[in-house]
Amino acid sequence: MMIKNICCIGAGYVGGPTMSVIASKCPEIRVNVVDLNEDRIKKWNDENVDNIPIYEPGLSDIVKECRDKNLFFSTNVEQAISDADMIFISVNTPTKTYGVGKGMAADLKYIELCARQIASVATNDKIIVEKSTLPVRTAESLKAILDNTGNGVKFDILSNPEFLAEGTAVDDLLTPDRVLIGGESSERGLAAQKALVEVYAHWVPEDRILTTNVWSSELSKLTANAFLAQRVSSINALSELCEVTEADVKEVARAIGTDSRIGPKFLNASVGFGGSCFQKDILNLVYIAKSYGLHEVADYWEQVIIMNDHQKRRFAKKIVTRLFNTVSGKKICLLGWAFKKDTNDTRESAAIYVSDYLLNEHAEVHVYDPKVKRDQIISDLLVLGNFSKEELEERVFTYEDALSCANQAHAVAIMTEWDEFKELDWKHVYDEMFKPAFLFDGRMLLNHDEMTGIGFQMYTLGKG
Ligand code: UDX
Ligand code: UDX
Ligand code: ADP
Repeated sequence: MMIKNICCIGAGYVGGPTMSVIASKCPEIRVNVVDLNEDRIKKWNDENVDNIPIYEPGLSDIVKECRDKNLFFSTNVEQAISDADMIFISVNTPTKTYGVGKGMAADLKYIELCARQIASVATNDKIIVEKSTLPVRTAESLKAILDNTGNGVKFDILSNPEFLAEGTAVDDLLTPDRVLIGGESSERGLAAQKALVEVYAHWVPEDRILTTNVWSSELSKLTANAFLAQRVSSINALSELCEVTEADVKEVARAIGTDSRIGPKFLNASVGFGGSCFQKDILNLVYIAKSYGLHEVADYWEQVIIMNDHQKRRFAKKIVTRLFNTVSGKKICLLGWAFKKDTNDTRESAAIYVSDYLLNEHAEVHVYDPKVKRDQIISDLLVLGNFSKEELEERVFTYEDALSCANQAHAVAIMTEWDEFKELDWKHVYDEMFKPAFLFDGRMLLNHDEMTGIGFQMYTLGKG
């Protein structure tokens, strides 16, 4: 079966870039990306492609090349479903904030809504692709909804989890380590799997396209993120030990990373991992393990989150203790708000939690991030529920550049590893700050000795 028309439900950080790359590599396939959010779709269709709602290096060029040729963004979900041979579900699956599994389980209400919508609209057979990260065995629930429409339409469900990382989404999509496609081993299932393999084979070498059963695929997505997050928590745990033993976590990471069994990547100690996936997926894994009665398995993985929460709190606490145990009324400058560089995504960013802690200590929080706007910063803090909008508007200040943000600050803290912070005129920053001028490097971005040389009271994460 040759796919000619793809619909993607959800024009977010996953759906948007993924569909743009598919459209660019498969000119003969029409790709319709739909979303309920009118504002988001309007931005995807903005005449000036620099205004698309997601910042990713290289993405706007691809959108420019394909948009209105074979890549379309719209809010007409039903039409797009009806036209498609293959439907990708890329809607958000946040952690549940209510009811059973609150704070742990994935909230599947958006997924279920999609399934019901597909079931009500479809008049011919379709391949449904799970793109969003889902708990293992979600395909079972999807199937139950889709197969009970009574209109004779047949659905084949595939799991095709996305492994792209934000900030490098386009590169990750163009040259993935692997593409994973889980499907049923029935004749229909295999044919559906083959149809999706053929889409990716337009640009991905076939030996990098792995096929498995649906459950392995669903579980692999959760565990890939759990393993990656575990590495970060492991090195972050060591960062604290390094600080008290006069070891240097950068040196330790290099030393262990050269062991090919361990490998060099994902060993950067940080102020804590963020992003939409790591915490959510681990909580999800923990919840699933618990629901099967596997309490030791659940506790093992939960420790990765506990360590991460500790790292964020520890960093915030460090700022307070170094500033003579009080930040009340002091100006603390945070450089970076995104959860990592090269993205405008702020979900679960460590900066949110550190700010909340500092606000609670009555600090004034001053923030600069090259890609995040004030509204986002205020709404991220609002979600934690500890301060009202009025309080935040009064005590959180935002800037258009790093130098003005740091001007007359008592302390500067690097929260995101944006390249431009490396290039800052740090002597100038120092001159304009209150003395002693404290600098907290939560990303090991700057040269510790050089900064100490300028005169900063320097704290570099993981350096004793
Ligand atoms: C270890 C370190 O590898 C080595 O660098 C250090 O110098 C000494 O300790 P060793 O204990 O000899 O070496 O064996 P290793 O191959 O690391 O295996 C340790 C245990 O882990 C074994 O019981 C092995 O069966 C088990 N293991 C290892 C697994 O169960 N699965 C694996 O994938 C790898
Ligand atoms: C992650 C997975 O990498 C990706 O495969 C999956 O599809 C989605 O989740 P993402 O969340 O976009 O991607 O970013 P990632 O690069 O994994 O970083 C996650 C967090 O870990 C960031 O806050 C980052 O700063 C932090 N991190 C990462 C570290 O603190 N140290 C590291 O060495 C690596
Ligand atoms: P991700 O990082 O997983 O891509 P996002 O939140 O960025 O998550 O994107 C998910 C998108 O899915 C949002 O823009 C949301 O509006 C959209 N969405 C959620 N449910 C539906 C639905 N039933 N139909 C269409 N779009 C939906």
